[in-house]
Amino acid sequence: RRYSKVLGIETSCDDTGCAIVDSDRNILGEYLQSQQQIHLDFGGIIPPVARDLHKQNIDNVVTQALQQSQVSLNDLDAIAVTVKPGLPLSLLVGMNYAKELSKKSRRPLIPIHHMEAHALTARLVDHNLQLPFLVLLLSGGHCLLAIVKKVNEFLLLGQSIDDAPGEALDKAARRLQLKNMKEFRNCCGGQAIEKAALRGDPRSIDLGTFMTNYKDCNFSYSGLKNAIRSQIIKSEQKHELKGDEIIPEVFDLCASIQYAITKHICTRVQRAIEFINRTQLLPDTNRTLVVSGGVASNMFIRKHLNLVCDEENFKLIVPPPKLCTDNGIMIAWNGIEKLNEHIDIFSHLDLDKVDIQSK
Ligand code: KG4
Ligand code: ZN
Repeated sequence: RRYSKVLGIETSCDDTGCAIVDSDRNILGEYLQSQQQIHLDFGGIIPPVARDLHKQNIDNVVTQALQQSQVSLNDLDAIAVTVKPGLPLSLLVGMNYAKELSKKSRRPLIPIHHMEAHALTARLVDHNLQLPFLVLLLSGGHCLLAIVKKVNEFLLLGQSIDDAPGEALDKAARRLQLKNMKEFRNCCGGQAIEKAALRGDPRSIDLGTFMTNYKDCNFSYSGLKNAIRSQIIKSEQKHELKGDEIIPEVFDLCASIQYAITKHICTRVQRAIEFINRTQLLPDTNRTLVVSGGVASNMFIRKHLNLVCDEENFKLIVPPPKLCTDNGIMIAWNGIEKLNEHIDIFSHLDLDKVDIQSK
């Protein structure tokens, strides 16, 4: 395989990211501009606001990444960009920028599926990781279990029928007003709950179990979200508090929320492994579970997934937190993987004729 360098651009949600990665797994340059603080102040992501911020930042983000890498546009082998799934307005900013960059540099454009990029990042970190493998993606927008069969072929085993775990955590953190507590001010919801949970008892409040009667690998978080809401209202009434004050059992509640989510995730993974054992979907040599997405940086969830994997004779691989959350590195690396396999490579001359999002 030829040595190659790819520049990757990510704008699917609220992070503007760019990186240059080579086929020897070196991250030559990277830059990430998060919009998190602004969206925290708004109490959630407002798509046109996210789009405007991407527009404002993207040129600087790409320039910084290129400068750091000391790679010139001429030295690149391709430009890779997230084309789906994500917020349509946000995706468009990255796609349009990447198209222009591709024309300007006369380098091909490679469309990237955001979730596939999350999954394949593990192969950037671990060069021994062979396909196929089992992947669990846990983020603010997604929750799914799949078998990565080929670079562009995923077998979906299950996904969330309603919300995503990160969204449930973010909403709970908002309801609990965690950002009013100094120590959590700059944390996203999931991080705040993880830190707060360290001071609470995970078994103090029973929030229920979910989908235990379903014999598939799907997930559901809406029941949990309702249980959390009722519990908070109950606590507020008990202490005669209004929404703007913090309930005394906030730490126990955070620990119990994290515990309930972890238990749900672990039982669904166990189901997937049972299914794999029965169907031999993975050869014995490939019993590896990759966990990625923002929620994968949670140490409590990791610890318990590790226990499941030990029991089931699976190897657990979790990329470092920086690579689990949205970033340009994973997009550039997926570009390398597609370049190696000659998949989805669009000439800069064809960009006005083809729909790169259909890939
Ligand atoms: O993958 P990501 O950066 O963006 C997408 O949603 O695609 O994930 C962000 C999500 C947020 O919901 C955030 O609360 C959650 O990941 N998160 C965490 C932790 N760090 C980030 N959830 C639990 N524990 C954490 N330490
Ligand atoms: Zn993501």
